[in-house]
Amino acid sequence: MQLSSLKIIVTGAAQGMGAHFARRLHEAGAQVAAGDINDAALAELPAGIHRRKLDVSSEDDIGAFVTWAKESMGGVNGLINNAGILRDGLLVKKDKVTGEVKKMSTADWNTVIGVNLTGATFMVRDTVAAMVEAGERPGVVVSISSIARHGNRGQTNYVSAKAALAANVVTWAREFASFGIRAVAVAPGMIETPMTRGMNQKARDALVANVPCGRVGEPEDIWQAVKFCLECDYFNGRVVDVDGGLSM
Ligand SMILES: NC(=O)c1ccc[n+]([C@@H]2O[C@H](COP(=O)([O-])OP(=O)(O)OC[C@H]3O[C@@H](n4cnc5c(N)ncnc54)[C@H](O)[C@@H]3O)[C@@H](O)[C@H]2O)c1
Repeated sequence: MQLSSLKIIVTGAAQGMGAHFARRLHEAGAQVAAGDINDAALAELPAGIHRRKLDVSSEDDIGAFVTWAKESMGGVNGLINNAGILRDGLLVKKDKVTGEVKKMSTADWNTVIGVNLTGATFMVRDTVAAMVEAGERPGVVVSISSIARHGNRGQTNYVSAKAALAANVVTWAREFASFGIRAVAVAPGMIETPMTRGMNQKARDALVANVPCGRVGEPEDIWQAVKFCLECDYFNGRVVDVDGGLSM
């Protein structure tokens, strides 16, 4: 699809990669409906980008957002399923001093699954339903997974969600084929955004030491992959890992 033909929803668009994707799409002439739980920060996006508060962990919010996006853009034929959060921690950990055994909290599990898995999946469900109801084709859904989809210490909740999103591109490519809708994903490595800026310096240095490209990625590195996913009509049911060669 040509970028200028897109009427596309971007979730988590207030900062980081989502904001970068929204700007690049807008520059390329696409119509963009930007959603984020942080609606104050959405105000900083360029004029001409449609914007509205969206909490992807709320089914009602998703339904209302997709209806609004369709009305605002005169249809919808794309989704960048980008909103995501971290609540890192070991599943089971023993305190070195006290010997106390601690478990990942149910809240940390449920919060990450609610946003990164249930929320992301319902965004696909409702956006694709809107495309199908309107007879809109072709269409494309790009989910932002993570290199953590291959497994990563301290991220059971996050890995579970990101691995499921990656696996489901195959499911969705097959299910949506008759509607002319492609489903793909991009799995970034460590990218410079507010999400990673909060990391402790030691953990960050250790990760960068394992990147053959020798640096943290930039949102533009991931945009290049997202752009390919949007433009290449023969790319379907697959995930692109964009991680500088990082081994976790
Ligand atoms: N930065 C990285 O190194 C990295 C690596 C791999 C994957 N990712 C994934 O890329 C995506 C973007 O990450 P980022 O680094 O730009 O993060 P970020 O924290 O900078 O931005 C994420 C955005 O999502 C929004 N958001 C959070 N919860 C939401 C909700 N319930 N509903 C709607 N919006 C919500 C936040 O307000 C924020 O604007 C995420 O899915 C993340 O898991 C990031």
